[in-house]
Amino acid sequence: MACMWKCILLSIFIVFGRSDALTGYFWHISDLHWDPSYDLSSSSQSKCASSGGRPTPHAGRYGDYVCDSPWSLINSSLTAMREILPDPDFIMWTGDDTPHVPDDQLGEQAVLRIIGNLTNIIKSTFPKTKVYSAMGNHDYHPKNQMPPAKSTIYEQTANLWRDWLHTASQETFKTGGYYTEKLLNQTGLRVIVLNTNLYYDQNKLTEKVKDPADQFSWADKVLQDAAKNNEKVYLIGHVPPGLFEKKRDKGWFRKEFNKRYIELIQKHSAVIMGQFFGHHHTDSFRMFYNSKGSPISAMYLTPGVTPWITTLPGVIDGGNNPGIRIFEYDTKTLLVKDIITYYLNLTYANIARARWEKEYRLTEAFRVPDASPASMHRVMERISSEKCSLQKYFELNSVSYDLSECHADCRVDHVCALREVDYDAYEKCVLKEGGSSNAPVLFILFLSLMLSLWSLN
Ligand SMILES: *[C@@H]1O[C@H](CO)[C@@H](O)[C@H](O)[C@H]1NC(C)=O
Ligand SMILES: *[C@@H]1O[C@H](CO)[C@@H](O)[C@H](O)[C@H]1NC(C)=O
Ligand SMILES: *[C@@H]1O[C@H](CO)[C@@H](O)[C@H](O)[C@H]1NC(C)=O
Ligand SMILES: *[C@@H]1O[C@H](CO)[C@@H](O)[C@H](O)[C@H]1NC(C)=O
Ligand SMILES: [Zn+2]
Ligand SMILES: [Zn+2]
Repeated sequence: MACMWKCILLSIFIVFGRSDALTGYFWHISDLHWDPSYDLSSSSQSKCASSGGRPTPHAGRYGDYVCDSPWSLINSSLTAMREILPDPDFIMWTGDDTPHVPDDQLGEQAVLRIIGNLTNIIKSTFPKTKVYSAMGNHDYHPKNQMPPAKSTIYEQTANLWRDWLHTASQETFKTGGYYTEKLLNQTGLRVIVLNTNLYYDQNKLTEKVKDPADQFSWADKVLQDAAKNNEKVYLIGHVPPGLFEKKRDKGWFRKEFNKRYIELIQKHSAVIMGQFFGHHHTDSFRMFYNSKGSPISAMYLTPGVTPWITTLPGVIDGGNNPGIRIFEYDTKTLLVKDIITYYLNLTYANIARARWEKEYRLTEAFRVPDASPASMHRVMERISSEKCSLQKYFELNSVSYDLSECHADCRVDHVCALREVDYDAYEKCVLKEGGSSNAPVLFILFLSLMLSLWSLN
């Protein structure tokens, strides 16, 4: 009898023990944007340089929505990470460390010092954890101007990240800010960290370059070898392809780079199990499809730690609460099983205390079994067709900062950005979904009407 119970307990243990052993966890953080000038004791109307002169009447201990992060917010986010999940398998950190200020207020040394300070606090909070780290467009001087060749900043950054990089990774990093390694040294698993700042249309140094720093051909080769070696891959980067969901028609990549990126994903989707990017400061995702329209890959856009209200023209009140997130994944197949986002209500934190709360878990909030491309496609369809899913997604998009209603134009902006990474397909989506307030689109409609009238003659 005793044996029977023992055996039952043992088999329960084996069943659960097994399935548990396959589930791993990692952190993804992005866009910390530390503003060292943030100073509550300042007598001026604005307590930080990153406000760009906007007043800061609500500035508090943990920051202000028109400012980048004060050190106390950076420290608070790292402390929260350690309290919530102290021993992740690894950490993804996707860049943008410096404040939104004019170049002449920074300089190469200031940028490197800021990268160094953030590297140090991550390292001291998680001394034994492997960190996969990508550069953001703000992690350079002058900002956005990443060269498609060797540079001092690549070299110095590789030195700062020495403990996180294999020797071979340090070498490729120095030539173009990208690298690849086996994920945690394991056979069959791989990470590719890209420097997509090379594709950013603000980068003057890559304007006429066909394949900046040979990154596309390098990535193509790495992915081809990965397929040959039966590996599964995570892609990590900062500036994402596709369009910004908060502003109609706003892409970041140059058009030809955007196309080439999509082709790379389509060609190698069988090995790519997830793409992890930042830069938007918002919580969103992007879908990739094959030529038959089946979902083949998803890109997860992780919100920023900085709450900074963007000064991008045309975006109204584009701020966010500080967010950090945990990915739950299958340690053998790299399937992304779930996404759990935590956030700090900055208003509450300044009034009371820094309380980091669970905001939502993807599978619960959107009733899907996991975060696979097929599931993310279902999430996208729900957002597109159900008013309540759209509203839920919209509030999460700003990390529960903007709780206003997402009306018709807002719906088109978000749904088309989620669904279509390709610029032309996005335009078609906007037309199909009935985006109204778009003068160029109306003009094209008008032109085609005139043309068809003319051809009737
Ligand atoms: C972070 O804040 C805690 C107190 O809340 C302090 O003990 C610690 O030294 C700070 N760490 C850094 C790196 O500033
Ligand atoms: C940032 O790093 C510099 C050295 O590079 C150091 O002097 C300074 O104290 C650090 N600041 C913080 C807040 O850690
Ligand atoms: C991973 O492998 C590399 C070389 O293959 C080695 O230098 C490094 O020490 C290994 N790291 C760990 C954590 O096992
Ligand atoms: C954030 O905190 C403020 C102040 O306590 C509160 O009014 C607001 O509703 C909170 N926001 C959310 C999304 O909970
Ligand atoms: Zn940023
Ligand atoms: Zn950025």
